[in-house]
Parts: sequence; structure tokens; C-alpha cells
Amino acid sequence: MKAFVLGAGGREHAIAWRLSQSPSIERVYAAPGNAGLAFDLSCIPADLTAPQELAALAETLDVDFTIVGPEAPLVAGVVDAFEARGLPIVGPCRFAAQLEGSKVFAKDFFQKYGIPTARSRTVDSTDQLAAAVDEIGPAVALKADGLAAGKGVILAHSRAEALDAGRLLLSGEAVGEAGRRILVEELLVGREVSFIVLTDGKRLFELRPTQDHKAAYDGDQGPNTGGMGAYCDDSILDPDLRQAIVDTIIQPALDGMKSEGSVFRGFLYAGLMITADGPKTLEFNVRLGDPETQPLLYRLDGDFGELMASAARRSLDASVVSWKPGATTCVVMASEGYPGAYPKGRPISGIGDAEATGAKVFHAGTAFRKGRLATSGGRVLGVTAGGDTLEASLQAAYAAVECISFEGAHYRRDIGRRPRA
Ligand code: AMP
Ligand code: GLY
Repeated sequence: MKAFVLGAGGREHAIAWRLSQSPSIERVYAAPGNAGLAFDLSCIPADLTAPQELAALAETLDVDFTIVGPEAPLVAGVVDAFEARGLPIVGPCRFAAQLEGSKVFAKDFFQKYGIPTARSRTVDSTDQLAAAVDEIGPAVALKADGLAAGKGVILAHSRAEALDAGRLLLSGEAVGEAGRRILVEELLVGREVSFIVLTDGKRLFELRPTQDHKAAYDGDQGPNTGGMGAYCDDSILDPDLRQAIVDTIIQPALDGMKSEGSVFRGFLYAGLMITADGPKTLEFNVRLGDPETQPLLYRLDGDFGELMASAARRSLDASVVSWKPGATTCVVMASEGYPGAYPKGRPISGIGDAEATGAKVFHAGTAFRKGRLATSGGRVLGVTAGGDTLEASLQAAYAAVECISFEGAHYRRDIGRRPRA
């Protein structure tokens, strides 16, 4: 089969890498891809927010199925465009993608279908903001309604901080139009877990639990990022808790979508806080996580191509894959200054040495400059390795990170070391 991957980050590199190792897959294309993807397979320039053009491209390439990496094409209706032409694709339709595309839609949906989540108010003026902070706060999470590339959530710990951040969002200064309407949410305390399932609308395949590290610096300090590293280890969720999450969060969401007259297909990612009162939903994403995909797919065994093809054909068959025992870890190496402004074009060395240790280095923000691999994004590389235990996987990932250098490289040294009580 021929597979097509939409996206340009570390997640998409991991998807394409795992696909290209699948016995059922003879060729993988990516659009627009990145330097790491181009090294392994064919990349084609494309506008990820132009659904019709992407569908036409899939027809021209004559691919058997398509996997959508990021949220923007889903929110723009890429699945609807593919389905109108009878092209198999893994991902939810535009209506269902609102679970990620609008925080207000998602919050109303959680409330309507009894899905546990933080208390909140929706506001679109500074007066309403102050009233909501007084009711719910003073410590609150402020969330821009629209997509904001991971920059739409601000955690405020005092009334003054909340009002300042809320004004910045509402004025359009922080994330533009996406912030004109915001959610003011109770700040939840607990440990964060990413739990992702794949569904064809009928059957469900649970991926193993992962944990992301969103803050820029060690000890969860500094601003939120897209994710500075993630690990996959079964001990993150015991079987009872996993079942409770499926019963109280995942299944009600899939049933709720049906009640709304739609069907959710593709990857549903629940970002959860495990609180003293049980698991609560922080957010839904309608795609695989980045960087969670890197440790997940490093660990997945079997024919991932066949799994994806069966999902795209709406006859999901999870018997074609299995999970390797042990744990896996991805450490993100980022550019100096990320998530703020960062330089580009810094030469990267040592990837070959890192991979000689058995690790896999996924490219996120890289490009070829004058024949050399150089940095071109905030998150540059996702260095991923496995081991019999979480500790062994951490040591393997960090040993590989030590092989790689570029000027100003910045990474967290405490991935996988968060207290799990
Ligand atoms: P979200 O995009 O909603 O997942 O928010 C980004 C990050 O902000 C999450 O991964 C959490 O670390 C944090 N966060 C979001 N909402 C809350 C909340 N209600 N309480 C505490 N932390 C939160
Ligand atoms: N790692 C968080 C996300 O993909 O949204």
C-alpha cells in the first residue's frame, strides 16, 4: 500500500518512520514534511489548510490512505473533503474536530454529556473577566477559545495575574482573534496524563498511557510549550483507572458526538488531570499528541500500516499490532529561547552517533542549509529510546541526547522524573 502523511513535525516523522517499517507499506509520502522526513521518503509542498488541494494531491499520488498529523487541517475540514471524494483517511470530520478547535464548544460538550472537567465561565469582555475570576479564582487557567498553536493557555496564580493575562488574550494582543472569547477555568491540582484512543466509529483501540512535560524548564518551571518530552510506561495508569477513563470520559464523548448527529473517527486524545476526585478532562485533542507519538510509536510493534489502513477503511483491526514490554522516552531538544523567539540556521551534529546507540532521532524543526542539517524551528529534535524499565529508557534517551549538539540547544533533564503519587 501507499500511505500519505499530512504534517511537518516530530509526530509526523514518527508516523512516517513507523509506516515505512510496516510490511504492508511499499511507499510513504509526506506533505509538507521536513528535513528528517525528506531523508527517509518523498516530501511534497502543500498548504495544510487547503482541504480540496490536499484531496486532489492524494488522488494524484494514488495513495491507499492518509493520516492527518496536526489539528489545523482537521479543523479546516480535510476529512470532509477526502470523504466527499471517497478517499480513505484517518481523522475526525470538521464538526467533531471542534472538540479541539473551540475550547468553548468542548466545554459545553463536556457539561452536556456529564464528562468530568474543571468548573469554568466563558467571557468576552474585561467586566465579565473580573466577575469570573472573582467567582472561580483567584488562581485560574485562562484559555483562548480558538486554535493558538499551544500558546492559548495561561495559568495565573493571583487575581492581578489573571486579570492581566485575560486582558492580553481578550485584546487580541496575545493570540489574535483566537483570544476574543476565553474560558476562565478552575485550576486543577494533580498529575497530568495523556490518554489516546483510535476509533473507526465503532471499535476502540486504546493506546498506552503517556505523560507529556509542557513547561519549558526543569521542575515544571517557565512558560508552557508544545511539549518538551514525553514517556510511555504502563505504570502511569493502573488498569482500574484506565477503565474509569474509558467509562466516564472517552465513551461518553463518543456517544455524545453521535447524539450531536456526527461520528467521531480517528485519534481522540484526552488530556487529563488525575485529581483527588478522580480523572478530569483538561482538553480534548482530535489527533495524536506531539511529542507523545514518538515514544508511543517507538514502542508499538507489528504492522502499523495495516492498523491505519483498517481505521481508514472503517474496519479497525487492532490485532495486527502489539506493544513491546518496558518503557520508552522522548527528550525534545529545543532552540535557545523557545517558546519565545529563537534563532534559526544553527548547524546540528551528532545525530548519527545518537542513532548508533539504538535511539531514534525524530526531526521537528530542521532544514538543510548549504548542504548541512540546521535548526529551523523551536522544537528541533525528539530523541527517543526504549528500555526494560522507565529508568533504563531514560538513561538510553539521555545518552543519545549527549551525542547531539547545536549552539544554544536546550532540553529538560527531568523527563520521566515527575512524582507519580
Ligand atoms: P490545554 O491546552 O487545555 O491542555 O492546556 C495546556 C496545559 O495547561 C495543560 O496541559 C495543563 O498543564 C495546563 N492546564 C490547562 N487547564 C488547566 C487547569 N484547569 N488546571 C491546571 N492546569 C491546567
Ligand atoms: N503534547 C501535547 C499536544 O500534542 O497537544
